[in-house]
Amino acid sequence: GTVAPNLVAAVSEQRQWDRLMEMARLGAITGADGSPGVNRPCLSPLDREARRLLIGWGRELGLTPSIDALGNLFFRQEGREAGLAPVLTGSHMDSQPAGGRFDGIWGVLAGLEAIQALREAGITPRRPIELVAWTNEEGGRFAPGCMGSMAYAGHSAPTSWDAVEDGEGIRFGDALREQLALEADLPRRPLGVVEGQAPHAYVEAHIEQGPRLETEGYDIGVVTGIQGSRWFLVELRGESAHAGTAPLSTRRDAVQDMVRAVTALNALMDDPTDVLRFTVARIEVHPNSSNSVAERVRFTIDFRHPAAAVLAARGDAIEPTIRAAVQHCEVTVTERFHAQPADFAPLVTEAVARATAAQGLRALRMPSGAFHDAQFMVPLCPTGMIFVPSRRGISHNPAEYSSPVQLAAGTRVLAQVLAELAEG
Ligand code: GLV
Ligand code: MN
Ligand code: MN
Ligand code: MN
Repeated sequence: GTVAPNLVAAVSEQRQWDRLMEMARLGAITGADGSPGVNRPCLSPLDREARRLLIGWGRELGLTPSIDALGNLFFRQEGREAGLAPVLTGSHMDSQPAGGRFDGIWGVLAGLEAIQALREAGITPRRPIELVAWTNEEGGRFAPGCMGSMAYAGHSAPTSWDAVEDGEGIRFGDALREQLALEADLPRRPLGVVEGQAPHAYVEAHIEQGPRLETEGYDIGVVTGIQGSRWFLVELRGESAHAGTAPLSTRRDAVQDMVRAVTALNALMDDPTDVLRFTVARIEVHPNSSNSVAERVRFTIDFRHPAAAVLAARGDAIEPTIRAAVQHCEVTVTERFHAQPADFAPLVTEAVARATAAQGLRALRMPSGAFHDAQFMVPLCPTGMIFVPSRRGISHNPAEYSSPVQLAAGTRVLAQVLAELAEG
C-alpha cells in the first residue's frame, strides 16, 4: 500500500487525453445537444482504423501485439521472470451507435498509459503484463456483446455467432474473417487460456456510466462485482392487411400484440425496490408502413438483476408471459445472452482499495450495473475493476464525459495495481 512516487508521476494526463481525443476522431458524431460523441461499430472500417492506431502505439512502446481467433488484440510486456502467468488489463474499442468518447476505449488506453508509466519509472515487475482490446463488447452491431471475452473464457463456442447478422445482413463470421485476414501479419495466439495458464489476475478500468461517484463525491469506484444480465429477441408473426379495409376483428396485428406483450412484461418486471432493470429499446416492424397492418415485429429485451434467483425466475417467466399475452401472432423467443451475477476477488479489490488510499483518493466500494468483459474473467482468475466518475452519470450517449484529471487519477490507480499484482 505504499505509493511508488516515480510511477505515479510517470502517468501522463496529457498524453492519455491526447490519445483518447485522437481515437475519438474515428467515428466522431454530434449528439442532439451538440456533444462530441462516437459511433464506432465493432469490426467496421472505423474500428479497424482504431485497432491500427492502437497497434502502432503499442509497437512504439516496444510491446509485441498478437491476435486470437476472435480478433481479441493483445500486447505483451515481459516481466523479470520467465514462465509466470501474466496480469491482464484492458477493455474494448467498439462503441454504441450513439456512444461517447470514453466507454471502453479509456480502459484500453489507461492500460497502455500504465504500462508506459511503468517503463518510464524503470519498474519491471516479476510477471508479464498483457493489455487486451476485446472484440465486440457492446453488441450494438452484432448481438450479443462480450463475444471476445466470452469466447476467451470458454463460456461460449466461438463459432456460435458466425451467422449473427448486422442491420445490413453482414454476418459476424464474415466480418471477423476479413479482420483476421487484414491483421494476418500479427502473430496468432490460441484462443483462450494458453496451455492451461490462466492470467494471474484481470483488472479493467472503465468509466462508471452512472451517477454515484459524482453525486456522492468520490474519485474512484472500487468495483465489487457486476449484476446479472439476460438478453432476449422476440419475434411476433401476424398478417399484413390494408389499414382502411381490414376489420379490427379479423386482424392479426403484430404491433398490437407487441403492446400486449410489453404491458404484461412490465407487470412481470414490477419491482418496488427499484433494483431490477428491464429495457425494450430496439423494435423492427415489417412492413413498417403507416397504412399497412404490421405482419411482423421483432423486439429486444434487456433484463438485469444482481440476485441470481431473481435473474433466473423472472427471466424464465419472460417467454410464458409473452405467450399468454399475445392474442393473434405466432411467437418466437430466443435468449441471446446470459451473464450470471459476478463477485470480484479480494486479491484485486483490496489492491485497488490500497492504491486509492495510498494516493489520497476518495474511494467508494460499489457494484456495476453495466456488464463488462470482466464479468467473464471471474471464473478464470481473480478479477476486479476500477471506475472513475461520469459527469451526470451519462453514458451510451455522446454527452458522456470524464475529465482529464479524473481519468488520470484512475490510470494512476491502475498503474499501481498492475505493479503490485505483477510483483506477486
Ligand atoms: C454494456 O455496454 C452494457 O450494456 O452494460
Ligand atoms: Mn464499456
Ligand atoms: Mn457500453
Ligand atoms: Mn459495456
